[in-house]
Amino acid sequence: MADIRSVGVVGGGQMGSGIAQLAAVHGLEVWLHDSDAGVLTRAHQSISSRIQRLVSKGNLTKEKGAEAIRNLRCTSTLDDFCSVDIVIEAIVESEEVKKNLFAQLDKIVKSSAILASNTSSISITRLGSATNRSSQVIGMHFMNPPPVMKLVEIIRGANTSDKTFNTTKVLAERLGKKIICSQDFSGFVVNRILMPMINEAFHALYTGVASKEDIDAGMKLGTNHPMGPLELADHIGLDVCLSILKVLHSGLGDNKYTPCPLLVQYVDAGRLGKKKGVGVYTYGKTRDEIKPSARL
Ligand code: CAA
Ligand code: NAD
Repeated sequence: MADIRSVGVVGGGQMGSGIAQLAAVHGLEVWLHDSDAGVLTRAHQSISSRIQRLVSKGNLTKEKGAEAIRNLRCTSTLDDFCSVDIVIEAIVESEEVKKNLFAQLDKIVKSSAILASNTSSISITRLGSATNRSSQVIGMHFMNPPPVMKLVEIIRGANTSDKTFNTTKVLAERLGKKIICSQDFSGFVVNRILMPMINEAFHALYTGVASKEDIDAGMKLGTNHPMGPLELADHIGLDVCLSILKVLHSGLGDNKYTPCPLLVQYVDAGRLGKKKGVGVYTYGKTRDEIKPSARL
């Protein structure tokens, strides 16, 4: 089985930067690309400071921390991905934009390289069809935040080979993750179940069943979820939640997945969640500045 030594990560947002951090800390050479230069700069800063934090808490030796930072290279050109063993794509949740990127990557990376997508919901089979290597295209779905959450959901497209699956599984396990496998149907396992709950929480808020604080406290204290569904939606990004619900709705053809109008309105208003400082709740710049109502 091919040994993965270098990883290209596309997208330096919350998922891409977390995946890049995880790979660098586990001794892989990492190239990180984003189409927005400002995002790349911020990603490098936040990854470096998270690695320093791991060192200062004694979770990583000073040497391993320095090595992890050396392992990470940010690039504004995808051509630097020509020698990577696997690409993990973590850009916006849009089938059209992802397909364009996969077609581009197919021409740049070496013939043996795997193209993995961190998509939350989009068909891996269709992403594979945008390339001439559909047997080497796979879903590698990390959870947010990738350095902390224990799961990677692996999704095989219709043409994904056993070799691609096995190499991806070994990589996920090397990164310290447990894996589950899903068939290639919209939303896979986790979001097929999670997004209807989040959508229902928006409906409860929209129809005045309870306040946002009580909805979240109900699920947090009543069912032992670490975050209430509305706080979790802010954590994921309301734009990401809306995109996933649209894929579930169109892909599975059931009106139960129709996005709640309140969620749609928040996204239209630019209230995208914690990453924008405002979503269902309002957030300050630091962890301590998160409004009390958001931290039940
Ligand atoms: N990147 C890296 N590390 C992070 C992080 C991030 N973005 N956010 C928090 N952490 C780390 C912190 O540094 C901290 O580590 P230390 O204890 O070593 O300092 C640890 O995680 C705990 O963080 P906090 O003390 O700030 O906060 P917390 O105890 O409330 O935990 C949480 C935060 C892990 C996010 C927790 O609230 C939680 O598990 N929430 C639910 C998250 C969840 O459900 N994620 C999956 C969403 S669905 C998905 O991802 C799929 C999809 O396609 C949408
Ligand atoms: P994000 O908005 O934080 O980051 C996306 C990044 O992609 C942005 O920095 C943007 O500049 C960049 N980008 C967009 N188009 C690009 C292109 N063509 N080339 C290069 N860079 C491009 O989004 P995110 O929350 O990190 O989500 C990324 C992916 O991961 C999505 O597919 C999402 O569904 C999936 N995902 C998200 C979560 C979550 O909780 N947010 C969890 C698991 C999976």
